[in-house]
Amino acid sequence: MEQPTAAAARRTARGGALLLAVLTLVPGCTAGLGGSGWTPGAAGVRDPYFPRLGNGGYDVTHYGLSLDVDSTAGRLSGTAVITARATQDLSAFNLDLTGLKVVSATVEGRPAAVNRAGSELTLRPDRAVADRLREGSTFRTVVRYAGSPRTVTDPDGSEEGWLRTAHGAVALGEPTGSMAWFPGNHHPGDKASYDVGVTVPEGRTAVSNGELTSRRTARGRTTFHWRVREPMASYLATVAVGRWTVRESATGNGLPVVTAVDPDVAGASAPVLARIPEVVAWGEKLFGPYPFSSAGAVVGRRGDAGYALETQNRPFFPGPPDTGLLVHELAHQWFGNSVTPASWRDMWLNEGFATYAEWLWSEDHDGVPVAESFGKAYADEANWAFPAARPPGAADLSRPPVYGRGAMVVHRIRQEMDDDEAFFGLVRGWLTAHRHGNASTADFTAYVGKESGLDLTEVWDTWLNGGSRPARG
Ligand code: TRP
Ligand code: ZN
Repeated sequence: MEQPTAAAARRTARGGALLLAVLTLVPGCTAGLGGSGWTPGAAGVRDPYFPRLGNGGYDVTHYGLSLDVDSTAGRLSGTAVITARATQDLSAFNLDLTGLKVVSATVEGRPAAVNRAGSELTLRPDRAVADRLREGSTFRTVVRYAGSPRTVTDPDGSEEGWLRTAHGAVALGEPTGSMAWFPGNHHPGDKASYDVGVTVPEGRTAVSNGELTSRRTARGRTTFHWRVREPMASYLATVAVGRWTVRESATGNGLPVVTAVDPDVAGASAPVLARIPEVVAWGEKLFGPYPFSSAGAVVGRRGDAGYALETQNRPFFPGPPDTGLLVHELAHQWFGNSVTPASWRDMWLNEGFATYAEWLWSEDHDGVPVAESFGKAYADEANWAFPAARPPGAADLSRPPVYGRGAMVVHRIRQEMDDDEAFFGLVRGWLTAHRHGNASTADFTAYVGKESGLDLTEVWDTWLNGGSRPARG
């Protein structure tokens, strides 16, 4: 746990003194703001695995991030302009941030008092603007911050947050690492559009999600502006600073494809990255329109991270991926990035479908029938350690049942429907119904039951939620 900084303590003390002075001068002013209707937003949204992740009382609509990264990528200073809509009459609200120091904060242009406890920042707006945080209104918060961003170790021991690499750094955020590089509402349930500007020493490149809107060099520093138009969960946000070889191309439909590759692995990556347009076209045929306005990949060196991640538009790979992994991360653009879990308990909807996409690809391209992939997954003891939608703890979120058992649930639905056209139609319908939104396991089982017209109680009770391996369907 961190102690509040001395500066934050001073600001809070000053805010307190100011409040007292105002109360003394204007005796009637407690009405409204002091009234019981104005309450602080919750410090978390009670995610079953990360109860303090995210914050209540508001919805972020847009993040405007300006980051300045030094030559070692070991320090950054940033400004986050957060546009949000109050979902209650707010007297104060929280942001999630870990490690970095808060330099200053304003709400609606007036200095806000900041309190810090661990990775929770509490901002209390100045009285002069406090009535603007009424339910339904949009308000703007600006946080200036700086420091050495942290690498966060997950409950399962893997590393995320800010990862230093051979020539820079990469930010990865699943499930909680994004609070290591910007303050925000870091639960997947609160999606927003983003503008990310990153200033780096000339000669380095900063890659992020979305599309590059400008690039300017002045006095030995280059600023890259990236824009994400479609809603994005914060765990899918990334910046990658380094000596990237950037290539821009397009799919047959004119979808921009941007790849950024570490020169060390450029040769080895080229053949697989050349297949991005083919994989996207294949995905569109099965799953419907690609949900974002650009695609691509970032390929670092082996060792830059311990895993690949489906960062929006542009998945990150530590070293050249094989085709299966490319398919998996691109499938996440539909499953996870467009239709995002309502809570971390629903992560099997991401990984089950991304794994199923790998099975489908193998059948179409390598002659491995889906039934064979299913059989292998069924035989694998590791997939039966726990129910796909009930990982015992946060350390289990990326374990085999979430992937393999999740994919088996998808296949069991297909078997029960016994009509491939109807099954893929249902999958596309699901993606359309929740496009650019969030969905839970309950939403999914209700949708499948209703659209298929089948009673799938047995599939849910045994394959999804059951305690042990059921007899083969
Ligand atoms: N969700 C990622 C994928 O399936 C993998 C991943 C992200 C992961 N973070 C992790 C795996 C932590 C293990 C541990 O592509
Ligand atoms: Zn995955």
